[in-house]
Amino acid sequence: MPFDQLDQIELPKSVTGETVLDVKHWTDSLFSFQITRPASFRFRSGEFVMIGLMVDGKPLLRAYSVASPAWDDKLEFFSIKVQDGPLTSRLQNIKPGDMVLLGKKPTGTLVLDALLPGKRLYMFSTGTGIAPFASVIRDPETYERYDEVILTHTCRTVAELEYGNQLVKDLVEDPLVGEMVEGKLRHYTSVTREDFPRMGRITNLIESGKLFEDLGVPKLNPEEDRVMICGSMDMLKDTKELTESFGLTEGSNAAPGQFVVERAFVG
Ligand code: A2P
Repeated sequence: MPFDQLDQIELPKSVTGETVLDVKHWTDSLFSFQITRPASFRFRSGEFVMIGLMVDGKPLLRAYSVASPAWDDKLEFFSIKVQDGPLTSRLQNIKPGDMVLLGKKPTGTLVLDALLPGKRLYMFSTGTGIAPFASVIRDPETYERYDEVILTHTCRTVAELEYGNQLVKDLVEDPLVGEMVEGKLRHYTSVTREDFPRMGRITNLIESGKLFEDLGVPKLNPEEDRVMICGSMDMLKDTKELTESFGLTEGSNAAPGQFVVERAFVG
């Protein structure tokens, strides 16, 4: 719906109507979009918020990780397209100038404050689970807190890695954080269903020790390492168990720990 029709509909009190600024389609099943950010909208890098559309006069909302950093004046999101999905079948058609609904209350556990201080920060992501980390790796505070920042991204196909590849490339060239990132941020990609120089699930790469060998770092350990995990329910379960097997304990906003998990939301 065009933004100028906004005053003709009644929005629920829990959301604001924001304008779509940009939409980028990465594959048949992945797209990202940017919307305006109201001055009152505050969040911590890594948090998620409700996003949606008015459908038949009613709000249809789903949780989305904010992919942009807290300092940015725009908000960015990275989404799958589900052809018969109630929201994403519609959301994938948005164009600049359209209106989307933005929840007023961001929240989440993939935030720096939910982790104890450490030397190395790992972010293990699969598929659209990279979204909250797109925010965290663009936050200067991440590099103030950690000596090494390791973002892993595993997808089924090579094309699905492109959002992350572009993100890291732009970041290195960014005037604000580019210098801070240099020599600290490592981007580690793998693919599971297509030929690629590095293949395999992140769980297998951790278990075999290949991840640590490739990076030239010690195995996961609770003294130095902190971990954020975001992917499907199965990926979370397996990666969490594996992380725990190295002796790391889970944290939360109320009680910071050595690792935190959050499901990658399905729009
Ligand atoms: P695979 O191709 O072997 O299933 P999805 O789109 O299903 O969320 O998958 C995204 C990526 O996450 C794929 O590379 C997939 O590997 C991987 N993956 C799926 N389940 C798990 C799991 N339980 N642990 C680790 N990685 C997983």
